[in-house]
Amino acid sequence: MRILGIETSCDDTGVAVYDTELGLLGHRLYSQSGLHADYGGVVPELASRDHIRKVLPLTREVLAASAVQPQDLQGIAYTAGPGLAGALLVGAAIGRSLAWAWQIPAVGVHHMEGHLLAPLLEPDPPSFPFLALLVSGGHTLIADIQAHGRYRVLGESVDDAVGEAFDKTAKLLGLGYPGGPAIARAATGGSPERFRFPRPMTDRPGLDFSFSGLKTAAALAAKDRVLDPQTIADIACAFQEAAIDTLVIKCERAVTATGHRRLIVAGGVGANRLLRERLADLAASLRIRVYFPRPEFCTDNGAMIALAGSMRLTAGSCDEPAFGVRPRWPVADLSPPG
Ligand code: KG4
Ligand code: ZN
Repeated sequence: MRILGIETSCDDTGVAVYDTELGLLGHRLYSQSGLHADYGGVVPELASRDHIRKVLPLTREVLAASAVQPQDLQGIAYTAGPGLAGALLVGAAIGRSLAWAWQIPAVGVHHMEGHLLAPLLEPDPPSFPFLALLVSGGHTLIADIQAHGRYRVLGESVDDAVGEAFDKTAKLLGLGYPGGPAIARAATGGSPERFRFPRPMTDRPGLDFSFSGLKTAAALAAKDRVLDPQTIADIACAFQEAAIDTLVIKCERAVTATGHRRLIVAGGVGANRLLRERLADLAASLRIRVYFPRPEFCTDNGAMIALAGSMRLTAGSCDEPAFGVRPRWPVADLSPPG
């Protein structure tokens, strides 16, 4: 089965073609980050309008690059939520319309299921069950992935998502948007000794997270100081150390509590090099395996939506030719396909 995947939940337009026998045939991503940079964050209405401009040209490009004609497709998958309502509606409207015109089924995909399944795009993918650390701009959670569609959230952020904390800290340091890569870049010139920030909620049992205090610690360090390049690098470094350390401590706790031997990492913050290194060290010390999607499939992309859609369509799920979107949609509401 060959599926076209469309991702438009936030500020990236992603389109891909996935073949259940051959794997990923092609994908394209257009990032709107330049458009939103002046505002220090995503402006929803601008995002929707830019998706409208980009989805069809990217679809044409991906089909041509994959040597796939519309009549070679057996389905369309689009992100149906969670995300920005207007942005989601663009992908849903275009995905549904193409499916109607080409007379093929379409399925609305949960954005986080896309992230959770992204490691399956890689060679030597993990088999179910596994533990997942999902770290994005909107979510931070550890989940027990028992099977496709059977997800149990073991812990999540009680306030800011870790990506959001990266973005807010970058903004207060004047590092621009998106903040994650900017903090990681600035941190390379910083010292981990000058500032030490807390590892929130690691001093009590449980797998929940809290990142708003960490952002406040960075704000306090920046307050009443001249933000010269070295100070910015030192704060970025201390922030990154504390955020990554916190994630790694909770992963270790989750592995010990559940006995899982496989840990997957998903979501935009999964592209962070320090996180990848520290989790690889943890996996070696616990004798488990850790799986990361390549960095471009950690952040939002069409490939993970095409893959997740193909898994639901092949299992017999297919939505009515009508669409709605769910800007808020707890992943625990999902059930197995079929
Ligand atoms: O998964 P994603 O692309 O979009 C959402 O679904 O939210 O995640 C975006 C988040 C942003 O907060 C961004 O700053 C963060 O991922 N991010 C990173 C890195 N690359 C992206 N955070 C830390 N280090 C990175 N290298
Ligand atoms: Zn995402």
